[in-house]
Amino acid sequence: MTRKIAIFDTTLRDGEQSPGASMNTEEKLVVARQLLRLKVDVIEAGFPVSSPGDFESVRRIAELAGDDAVVCGLSRAVERDIDVAAEALRFAKRPRIQTGIGVSPSHLRDKLRISEEQCVERAVHAVRYAKRYVDDVQFYAEDAGRSDYAFLARVIEAVIEAGATVVNIPDTTGYSLPDEFGARIAYLMENVRGIENVVVSAHCHNDLGMATALALSAVRNGASQVECTINGIGERAGNAAMEEVVMGIRMHGAELDAHTGIDARELTKASRLVSSITGMTVQANKAIVGSNAFAHSSGIHQDGVLKSRETYEIIDPSEVGAGVSQIVLTARSGHAALKHRLEELGYEFSGEELDRLYEAFLAMADKKKEVYDEDLESLVNEVEREEGAVYTLAAVQVSCGFPLRPTATVTLRDAEGVETTVCEWGTGPIDAVYKAIDKIVGVENDLSEFSVQSISRGIDALGEVTVRVKAAGGRVFTGRGADGDIIVSSTKAYLNALNRLLSNRF
Ligand code: KIV
Ligand code: ZN
Repeated sequence: MTRKIAIFDTTLRDGEQSPGASMNTEEKLVVARQLLRLKVDVIEAGFPVSSPGDFESVRRIAELAGDDAVVCGLSRAVERDIDVAAEALRFAKRPRIQTGIGVSPSHLRDKLRISEEQCVERAVHAVRYAKRYVDDVQFYAEDAGRSDYAFLARVIEAVIEAGATVVNIPDTTGYSLPDEFGARIAYLMENVRGIENVVVSAHCHNDLGMATALALSAVRNGASQVECTINGIGERAGNAAMEEVVMGIRMHGAELDAHTGIDARELTKASRLVSSITGMTVQANKAIVGSNAFAHSSGIHQDGVLKSRETYEIIDPSEVGAGVSQIVLTARSGHAALKHRLEELGYEFSGEELDRLYEAFLAMADKKKEVYDEDLESLVNEVEREEGAVYTLAAVQVSCGFPLRPTATVTLRDAEGVETTVCEWGTGPIDAVYKAIDKIVGVENDLSEFSVQSISRGIDALGEVTVRVKAAGGRVFTGRGADGDIIVSSTKAYLNALNRLLSNRF
């Protein structure tokens, strides 16, 4: 059995520190419920001394979590902070106080203006002070990633002796390289007396885009707790993302000698929830939870995935609650992807029919970025409509505006392949098009109805036009046409109605 790595979620504390990500108590409770569904080991619910809102959130989350998770409150190595954290956690079933102090030369010299001796003294005092309230005390050595190895080991050994149960080694500024951060953890594991009796935690920031790599390197070298946030939100460039850490450990559990207790199927839901509450959108290409994480766009990849999902996917999307892999239909998609999607929509096409549809699909995909199901359905209808048509549309062009006279040039191809072009003007561009068509087709009719509706999504949505024309004997023929260009859909619709009239079929 591999080592169990505790997942310490700090979405509600470090994550909430992201500019623009602040949440009120009710919102934090909603997120905390999802963290419990994920089965995180520890919820860092806030920094109680920082505001009455944070205090209340920690208090309510402690109540909510009961026995299901440890609830942690942050404090500086300051008695008042620890008092307030303890008060907020008073009714927690499994309370933890996290206290700590900066340990890097920059923090000692420029921020705290204290000596190394004073730093050790304050750290030890804070841990002893917190121990008066709770058994479970976590010590953080702020900016450990830039600290001197020997001094860091000295501080950590002193706080363990003072009673810390968890020692948190943060790369506060996201400065380290993964190998180097791993070596730092290994150094502590080898050189700190008593470290084998406590939990070693990695808290990594993403300033160089390496937070997850840093956390996994720490795990490989002996850390047994990882601190992370949903979607990687947090100070500046954020923290290690829980979804990445959890899936990284799951994929490489044997090499890392590690597993977590997280229910990964809740990851996508958690990501969407945090994104909607904080208003921080998740980039489309974000690992695990981005909207493109399981979407395949190029023809080569789509062909591979349709043959076997594993050709281009290392994670089954259902494992993280993301449904099924998506085949995105674009101009780069091949026959295989189009056929597959059509089959999913209930259409069976092969051979020449599929080739014809593929041509029409490519023409549409060239104009639109993405071809949706509704677009495909309309394409199928249109290709079917054109079968056996007396006239097909070869070209249509209009010019209109102020003070121009609306003019249309239409070219139709008859069943023998002969093309006829006519130019007409009208009261508007569509009227001009219809007059040009009438001139070519030469069949008496009355346009009795014209309507337009949008049938797909986005700014480049298809507009579908429906027209009804009355033939000389009073019989009504309906025509439909769809295109991203409303003039083209109107042309196709009218032509479709006239073709039906000409062949006298419904
Ligand atoms: O980044 C950091 O060092 C922190 C500590 C408070 C744990 O967030
Ligand atoms: Zn942090």
